[in-house]
Amino acid sequence: MTADNRSKNEHIKEDSHQLRGTILDGLSEVVTGAIAEDDTQLLKFHGSYMQDDRDLRGERAKKKLEKAFSFMIRLRIPGGLVTPKQWIALDDIASTYANNTLRLTTRATFQYHGVIKSNLKRTMQAINATCLDTIAACGDVNRNVMSAANPFLSKAHGKAYDLAKGVSDHLLPRTGAYHEIWLDGEKVTDATRKAEVGEEPIYGVHYLPRKFKIVIAVPPDNDVDIFAHDLGFIAIEEKGEFVGWNVTVGGGMGMTHGELDTFPRTADVLGFVAPEDAIPVAEAVMTTQRDWGNRNLRKRARLKYTMEDRGVEAFKAEVEKRLGKPFGATRPYTFKSTGDVIGWRQGHDKKWHLTLFIENGRIKDVPGETAKTAYRKLAEQGICEFVLTSNQNLILTNIAPKNKPKIEALLKEHGVSIATSSGMRRSSMACVSLPTCGLALAESERFLPGLITDIEKLTEKAGLRDDEIVVRMTGCPNGCGRPYLAEIGFVGRTPGIYNLYLGAAFDGSRLNKLYAQDVDRAKILALLDPLIARYAKERTEGEHFGDFVIRAGVIAATKQGNEFHSDLNLVS
Ligand code: HEM
Ligand code: SF4
Repeated sequence: MTADNRSKNEHIKEDSHQLRGTILDGLSEVVTGAIAEDDTQLLKFHGSYMQDDRDLRGERAKKKLEKAFSFMIRLRIPGGLVTPKQWIALDDIASTYANNTLRLTTRATFQYHGVIKSNLKRTMQAINATCLDTIAACGDVNRNVMSAANPFLSKAHGKAYDLAKGVSDHLLPRTGAYHEIWLDGEKVTDATRKAEVGEEPIYGVHYLPRKFKIVIAVPPDNDVDIFAHDLGFIAIEEKGEFVGWNVTVGGGMGMTHGELDTFPRTADVLGFVAPEDAIPVAEAVMTTQRDWGNRNLRKRARLKYTMEDRGVEAFKAEVEKRLGKPFGATRPYTFKSTGDVIGWRQGHDKKWHLTLFIENGRIKDVPGETAKTAYRKLAEQGICEFVLTSNQNLILTNIAPKNKPKIEALLKEHGVSIATSSGMRRSSMACVSLPTCGLALAESERFLPGLITDIEKLTEKAGLRDDEIVVRMTGCPNGCGRPYLAEIGFVGRTPGIYNLYLGAAFDGSRLNKLYAQDVDRAKILALLDPLIARYAKERTEGEHFGDFVIRAGVIAATKQGNEFHSDLNLVS
């Protein structure tokens, strides 16, 4: 008999009766606000993480109380489009069951924070009543599929949205566990359990080795950060007509500090496919990863490592075999930026669309800026739809020209500004981190706005206040805010201390590299000050900060993921 080296999570999945585990029993257990440890792994597949308020840990431990457990709930919204009716319901859920905020995520969906166990089922049911769900929003499955923000902007954007919905449906887990647990569906008994194995024709009982993320981009915007994802489709238009997709495979962000066999990686472009082959390709790529991915070591289980271990050509050949045909040659495309175009834009059908910058994606009311109430009022008036972007921003979309002034007036009345304070802030993004994320090593969402205020003083001094420089921060190296694709990236080490990365490409095609290790706020500012001043003086026409630091010899370029840790020349 051969030894079974598979990771613990593989056993949990195998024994879970297709993601049921003992979640249902745990929900009715009133002596604790938590659920069983193995069930926390399964709960992710249902779109929820068990967390605890880390701000309260010390105080509660002193009082010998259990941790302040609560649950994060993430929705599945392929393509990020939300109707006014859904917005109202989602806003109600935030105030009734969560912490009265809506968090727009870096993968264009909503998260709720602070839902206690006794409200978990009610919240799931309320989400379902809006015709949305949380299935596969986390876990070792295909997660929320993102498409280029705003399906109404052009015909190709519409195609991208349709593909996001189509591929999300096709790769959705089929288990009845979700309905049984959250929607009081019929329970599976021992007698019917045998049939469960057949419940998942694509995933089987072990699902995927690790998470799997798909995005769809429409050039010249790379707002979805296509090279950061396991699988991507780039819309190709020729002579103004949509003709099909270039396919990208093998991107990913997460790594572990100090472990050089873990690294972020940008995806490779495998080739071109016709529109009707997009969903079969998605299935072929995902099942190849299902069968080839590393199930022994979770930290090496993402598709990016399968590509590194097996080689891009071997992976491509296997996908072509499963697809039954070869990829076509990659068609030309050009990306310009990963950011959102903030402000008003008119679509091909003459309707108006307003992209609003939402700092770190948190929608809330604060004195002087009651944004949450403003969006709710817009939803109640039914004069726009809502699109979430992968930069944690919000688009008010499908606006008739006559309603444009009405929207502007309502936003102004609630203190919501269309302009943002600086190009850098507009291009900034932070993950949630403390106090909810159990993996956080340092602050992120609560720290970055203040740090940007300080860096703005430097850019202002250099005359660069309006220049867009992409800045991203995460509280740990897992990379939820895609910090390794930022021109200036910060990754948490310990409270108040970050690693500083420089040199990613503005169009999202090149990773950055470690520049300084273990630096605090003062050191960060001292290091950036001369670089920003040099950039202002020495840059060539149209040169972005990330390209400049490479040309100026400040940092070496990371041409591909496995070079992320090499050629380091640290300043601290
Ligand atoms: C090993 C890798 C990772 C782990 C274990 C992990 C775990 C987590 C956890 C626990 C949270 C919840 C934080 C909270 O809301 O309190 C979270 C949030 C999130 N993660 Fe990850 N994550 C990983 C990598 C990534 C990567 C690479 C991406 C995107 C490319 C990503 C996207 C997100 C998003 C969109 C959120 C929602 C909050 C936000 O927008 O910042 N995660 N992740
Ligand atoms: S990057 Fe780390 S700290 Fe930030 S949300 Fe993801 S897991 Fe948590």
